[in-house]
This record gives sequence, structure tokens and C-alpha cells, in this order.
Amino acid sequence: MEENKTTRQVVKYTFYKLDALAFLRLPEEKQRAAKLDLIDTVRTFNRRMLLRSYTLVGMRSDVDFLLWTVAEDVEPVQELETAIRNTALGPFLDVPRSFLSGTKRSIYDISLPEDSEKVDAEARIRIEPSGSKYLFVYPFIKTRAWYALSREERQEMMTEHIRVGRQYPNVRLNTTYSYGIDDQEFVVAFEGDDPHEFVDLVADLRLTQASMYTLRDTPMHICLAMPLGEVMDSIGGAHVSDLVDEDVTEVGGWLPVAQEDELAPESSKLVYYGTQQVALFRANGGLYALNNRCPHARGPLCEGTLSENGHGPAVRCPWHEAHFKLETGEVIDGPSPRSVETFRVKVEDGTVFIARGEVE
Ligand code: FES
Repeated sequence: MEENKTTRQVVKYTFYKLDALAFLRLPEEKQRAAKLDLIDTVRTFNRRMLLRSYTLVGMRSDVDFLLWTVAEDVEPVQELETAIRNTALGPFLDVPRSFLSGTKRSIYDISLPEDSEKVDAEARIRIEPSGSKYLFVYPFIKTRAWYALSREERQEMMTEHIRVGRQYPNVRLNTTYSYGIDDQEFVVAFEGDDPHEFVDLVADLRLTQASMYTLRDTPMHICLAMPLGEVMDSIGGAHVSDLVDEDVTEVGGWLPVAQEDELAPESSKLVYYGTQQVALFRANGGLYALNNRCPHARGPLCEGTLSENGHGPAVRCPWHEAHFKLETGEVIDGPSPRSVETFRVKVEDGTVFIARGEVE
């Protein structure tokens, strides 16, 4: 399949450092208001991008927290940063490190010869974080000698590298590409629950042939996942997490995701429900919301084809044509092994809200 621009994503890792000396001189109520201002501001972006927050306090001295964002374009990423700078906390924050990258299908075969089925490279162009406790992030640059090797030589080394990675099934890799848009060539982000396991994996990768061709893979960051309110508590000063009723990056209940007029008849739009990608459809006069990932091989349903053939409105997955009812998510035909999750939808004053499961 052709690599389609709309299926690729922009990925940003922004590391912040608090000017603690200046911030902690503020009266406690101003510290609290500044943190809440930042949390509210970030909240307004969670229907335009996928957002995850992590603390690094106690793990690194040069950065305090990370916002990991994944969007369809660069603009929302840029707008979020401007909005954060304009919060009451903004003047006390520095950005010592910032890595911009994008998803891209690997040019290597990421399956092993002994695999009974090919690993789906397409799935790698959409980021979908797991609920892991840690994120391990570093920028990565290969030597120019690597690029002078033949494709076969590089593939052989990558196969060895993949084989080592497979020995650590609990560590999940998200590699994104920065060629020409930032100083590093890749940003490597591993999700996992056990730092010791990650240490062992990296130690083993040092013994591979491909490691000879690493030019730079520092600074390395171990980031601990937590709701943004708790991240704000971790950086010092007034506590706010007990004042924030929900994690702004892990929403529940009804979430506004679009304006009704953004959806023309028989059209679709990708929105986010916290970290979850949701395909919103207007079809046959109704509004429907489905998990954007096709259960077959994670094809993007928001890019599928709408149909109406006696089953009610339906969508056909753009990758291998699994066919789903919009109303129930049921499979009509095609290779999907199961139904796709549906979300509840309502419209209030021209704003479209979606919710998962039973809500008031
Ligand atoms: S990804 Fe194969 S049918 Fe959707």
C-alpha cells in the first residue's frame, strides 16, 4: 500500500524545566493558579491530539517533566506550545529539550525469517501508547558509514537487532523519524513497566553489529507516566492534583470533539477521546463514532468508504475491506475477527460530544 500522508502522524516530545527558585517565591495561591491554568490549557487540546504526561523529577536533573503529543499535523503541536507559554506557569518554564518527529513505515523487513506471519509494518505509522508505567526516550543518529552499507547488510543487522528486541516482549518500541525536521535522525521511545528489563535490553543491543553504527543516542530519559495534575505536584510548590477531577489526558464521560458543521454529509473526521483515536462519521443523516483502529490490522477507519446497502450506514476499512455497521460496530463481511468499539454521540448547541459506555 502507498504510504498515505493522512495516515502518518507528527510526534513531539517536549521536556520542560521549572525555574523553581523564581516559582517557589510566589505565594502559594499563585503557584496553584498557575498550575491549574496550565492544566486547563492542555485540556483544551485533547480533542486535537493524543497527549501523555510524565515526570522526570528525581530521575534527571536537567528536565522536570515531559509532554508526549501525537497529532495529524504540526500546527496543533505548535499551537499547544504557544498556549502553554501564555499560561501563568509559562514564564517559569524552560524547554531544555524538544524532539520533533513523524511516523514512517520502516524500510526494513521487521519480521523475522521464522515468523509464521509477516509483522504488519503499516501499524507502525500510527502511534497508540500502551498503559505502560515508563517511557524511555532518546534521540538517535546513525553514522554515515551505515548509509554506505548495502541494503542487504543493513537488513541483516536489523534482523539481529529485532531478534534481540523480541526477547523483551514487555518492552514496546515506538520509533519515529526526524530526517530534515530536527537534529536527530530518529526519536526512540520504549514503553515498559520495568526499568531493569529496559537496562538489560539496551545492554544486549550494545552487543549487536548495528550498534557499531550508532553515532549518538544520548541524552537518555526515563519518564514516569502520571496524570498531569500529579506531574504538577511532582515539580514542587502548591499541590493541585486533588483539585483536578480527572486526568486531562485520560478523559471519561462526555467529551466535546468537534463542531457539528465540521462534518459535511457523508464524511468523516478523526478525533481523540483522551489517548484513543476515534473515527467520527456523518452518514445517512446521523452521527456515529467508532474506534478508529480496525480490529483486523489496525487500518484507519476514518479513511474508509461509507456505504448503505440494507444494513444501515456502514464503513469499509481502507486496508483490507472489512465492513462494519456504524451503529453497532458489527462486522458485516471481510477479514475482521470481531466488531469494532462504538462510542455514544450527542450534539449540544452545535458541539459534538462522544462518550464511552454508560454515562449520565
Ligand atoms: S486493517 Fe485489514 S480490514 Fe481493516
